[in-house]
Amino acid sequence: MSAIHIALLGYGTVGKGVYQTVQSHQKKLQAIFGKEVKISAILVKNLEKHHSPDDDVILTDDFDKIFSLEKLDIVIDAIVGKEPCFSYLQRAIKRGCHVITANKEMFAHYGSQLKRLANEHGVTLSFEATVAGGIPVIQTLKQLLNVNNIKKVQGILNGTSNFILTKMREENVPFSSALKLAQEKGYAEADPTNDVEGYDAFYKAVILSELAFGESPNWGESIREGIRGITPEQIEIFSSLGFRFKHVASIERTADGVQCAVKPVLVNEQHPFYHVEGVQNAVSIDGDIVGNISLQGPGAGMFPTASAILEDLVHINRKSVSPIFTEQKPDGDEASTVSFWAI
Ligand code: NDP
Ligand code: HSE
Repeated sequence: MSAIHIALLGYGTVGKGVYQTVQSHQKKLQAIFGKEVKISAILVKNLEKHHSPDDDVILTDDFDKIFSLEKLDIVIDAIVGKEPCFSYLQRAIKRGCHVITANKEMFAHYGSQLKRLANEHGVTLSFEATVAGGIPVIQTLKQLLNVNNIKKVQGILNGTSNFILTKMREENVPFSSALKLAQEKGYAEADPTNDVEGYDAFYKAVILSELAFGESPNWGESIREGIRGITPEQIEIFSSLGFRFKHVASIERTADGVQCAVKPVLVNEQHPFYHVEGVQNAVSIDGDIVGNISLQGPGAGMFPTASAILEDLVHINRKSVSPIFTEQKPDGDEASTVSFWAI
């Protein structure tokens, strides 16, 4: 059977989740694609920390080795930071590969450039995993944008911060222990400053803004505050008064452009975010026709993020301009396939 060849950049929490899910759901993927879905190569930074999960999977710390693979259809990016990630993805797109990224820091900075490049080269660039973990917020927004004008998007967009605030309140755990637990569970960024100082939620807000409003908020004028300053005493006092701290990102189109604020807020029991606890994220979208749509689900972690990436993989297939991938008919007859063309 022929195969779709994928290079996986990064083999940490997200990379391992993707690899394992491609194996565990191979049958289902093959039924969709009509081909084997194969992770052919994995890129890491420190080769000595790793071993290849299979004899025929190339494990390397050299992107050139991946780039020189004879067969390469899709690059899945689960590495960290702006560079060298941006350069790698530019090269992949120019080569004609479809790209899926989970790297919000890179995408908030260079997403527009990558989207332009992907359009020029007729490939798909997907980024569902950059915002809100397993919640399909990017697909939902794209769907709504067919007819709606988006007025406002609000959300709990950082799972680590919400997890820490929940642990501190429910179990009286100190900030540092709650953060350590979030790191052990694979929720936190490689540099957790990004989580607890609000940078991660801000990057996600930028990505949502570019999609929902077609423009980025003014970075210098945006409010970005994290949760580090919140004390156990404050949590206890406000809890006894019926309030919970939630770290909320808000983007709104105004006459002066898109306003963005990322900061801790106090909510009471009537607020929809009050019961969003632990690593859960929530997103509330206001559209002029639909009204309000709210989504809630796991905002970080190995398998919720893998779910978002695998959903992107299937969408790439559906959007593929040249029908390089085919889908089996439900009767499972391999010979009878349906091709997907761009619409
Ligand atoms: P980890 O730190 O667990 O893993 C990162 C992986 O990338 C490691 O395998 C590391 O190699 C590799 N890597 C980092 N820098 C480079 C580089 N310059 N060249 C080659 N390989 C590199 O991170 P996560 O898996 O948690 O996150 C990966 C990406 O996904 C990040 O951008 C993150 O923001 C995003 N993300 C994370 C989520 C989560 O829940 N964890 C959810 C959604 C998105 P080595 O192991 O050798 O150090
Ligand atoms: N560190 C991020 C978070 C991962 O805690 O939300 C998911 O984007």
